[in-house]
Amino acid sequence: MDVFEAIMQRRSVRQYKPDEVSVSDIKKVLEAANWAPSARNTQPWHFIVARGAKKDEFARLYGQIVERGMPPAGQRTPDQERRVEWARTLGKAPVLIVALTRRGNDAAGTKASLESTCAALENLMLAATALGLGTCWMTGPLAEEAKLREIFSIGPEWEVVATTPLGYPDGLPNPPARQDPELKQKVTWIGFSS
Ligand SMILES: Cc1cc2nc3c(=O)[nH]c(=O)nc-3n(C[C@H](O)[C@H](O)[C@H](O)COP(=O)(O)O)c2cc1C
Repeated sequence: MDVFEAIMQRRSVRQYKPDEVSVSDIKKVLEAANWAPSARNTQPWHFIVARGAKKDEFARLYGQIVERGMPPAGQRTPDQERRVEWARTLGKAPVLIVALTRRGNDAAGTKASLESTCAALENLMLAATALGLGTCWMTGPLAEEAKLREIFSIGPEWEVVATTPLGYPDGLPNPPARQDPELKQKVTWIGFSS
């Protein structure tokens, strides 16, 4: 699969087959992440790869976050139920990845570090797509960052960037429409004739 196909086919996957992902495939997507560009070549990322009890503990936390502000079970819309179920189980994904970035000495340093790790995480997701795997960029779980840090023993030198499940998709969602598919508003051309 070439890079354009991977970009187009990547979707936020919220339902997974129970099939395990091989450690060699997990390493392949991590290697793709590790080849991302980074500010001053700092390569400031760290990835926690979890399965089993810690992943389940994380999913319970995410379920509680998503349930907040919703009516009690039994009084929810089907869409609300689906969202809670997705969070509580991570759509049955067998693996969870937590992306961390090293804090900089100042706000600008931390911003550059964050950008570098976002590039790495996108590389990871595109590589996963190329391997037939699904992911879903999730920052919702950061609403309980202190608890998330406790689950995975994350020290203060790390900023939590995002989390994603990893697994084989059980169906792919339809691609959401682009706001500006012809890029008439989202791009400013300078020095080009129209
Ligand atoms: C910064 C960021 C945070 C996101 N957080 C969540 C999240 O907490 N939970 C979730 O289910 N999806 C989350 N998403 C996924 C978006 O909902 C998804 O990317 C968007 O709807 C477009 O769908 P697509 O990824 O299939 O193209 C997040 C995406 C990004 C980039």
